[in-house]
Amino acid sequence: MNGYEIKKIRSDFPMLNPNKKMQGKPLVWLDNASTTFKPKQVIDAINYYYTDATSNSHRGDYDLCFAMDKVVMETREVVASFINSKKTEIVFTSGTTASINLVAYGYAMKYLKEGDEILLTEAEHASNVLPWYKVKEVKGCNIGFIPLDEDGRLSVENVKASINEKTKIIAIAQVTNVLGFVAPIKEIAKLCHEKGIILVVDGAQSVPHMKIDVKDLDCDFLSFSGHKLCGPTGIGVLYGKYELLEKMDPFMSGGGNNVKFDMCGDASFLEPPMRFEAGTQNLEGIIGLKAAIEYISALGMDNINEHERELKKYCVEKLKKTGVVTIYNEDSEAGIVTFNVDGVFAQDAATYFNSRGIAVRSGQHCAKILNDFLKTVATVRASFYFYTTKEEIDCLVEAVKKCKGEYLNAYFN
Ligand code: ALA
Repeated sequence: MNGYEIKKIRSDFPMLNPNKKMQGKPLVWLDNASTTFKPKQVIDAINYYYTDATSNSHRGDYDLCFAMDKVVMETREVVASFINSKKTEIVFTSGTTASINLVAYGYAMKYLKEGDEILLTEAEHASNVLPWYKVKEVKGCNIGFIPLDEDGRLSVENVKASINEKTKIIAIAQVTNVLGFVAPIKEIAKLCHEKGIILVVDGAQSVPHMKIDVKDLDCDFLSFSGHKLCGPTGIGVLYGKYELLEKMDPFMSGGGNNVKFDMCGDASFLEPPMRFEAGTQNLEGIIGLKAAIEYISALGMDNINEHERELKKYCVEKLKKTGVVTIYNEDSEAGIVTFNVDGVFAQDAATYFNSRGIAVRSGQHCAKILNDFLKTVATVRASFYFYTTKEEIDCLVEAVKKCKGEYLNAYFN
């Protein structure tokens, strides 16, 4: 993407309006791994739901409701084509966390037994650790951690060496949220399937940034969130192979996911995906998700990925030249740079950057096991998207250069 294209793209985003300020300074948004800004196409779609199209879905015999049913169906098709699945394999959830919990409660709680093993890595986000701890608690399973390479990368060899006859599930991020390494999902899926293991992939940090083809990857489940790909908050997706979804119990029950129930306590449920969509769905979220996926698809996922890789390289080079940072993920592929300014605690650095209008994330980034691996208590994370510019990275680098001096002045003078 060249400068002209990015300028044009940025004009779609109200939050990227040059007049937008934070601390009286032009806003520099470098926290895209946390959430992304929304283009007017997405905001318009949500407004359309509230101003012209409000109704429920699957619950009325009138035109407004039929129109909403059509939108839900179309969105499922758009999502399916985006990741190359069947539309019946797309379940709407509230986000990645809900999607992984749905697999843990709907699949693992049903099929895992005492002594079975679930393998994770130390780099996982809380959402891909804690639901499995619950399965362990309820079912008496064991949790194991596949070792990472020295730099934090997950290798096929280490997965292979960690698998044993008790392993039933491997749950890993395709792109880790702190270090940004891309896991070799296709190769890991092959290994898993040779041993009858289910591969659950956290796609929160991958689906927004790279082309995903679930048929090619052959993962069993893939979760992602709308808000990390320019869509609304509160909407997400669980992809599951249909034959696995068919075997699963609903995690929640209520209106919209049952066929019938009676006074004897008998109940039967719909086929997937609706079996897992009890209660009124997040309809403005679904409409917004469709608009977001259409928006980023039109930009091209390969273009997005290429732009982010270029930014990553640029940022690492510039930060290294300052001579005052420790970078923890120089060689990872994603548009995420995790670092510390030498001699400044991560949260203090982030607070200083805030004073200059720059938003980054600091702390443990919900990946609380990883800090032992990194041998630090906290880090600063700058994360990019297709609308991020080199000028924004320059602002961060200038702030990094001044950080230690100004931080020491502010606190110790
Ligand atoms: N999961 C999001 C992050 O990594 C919130 O920042």
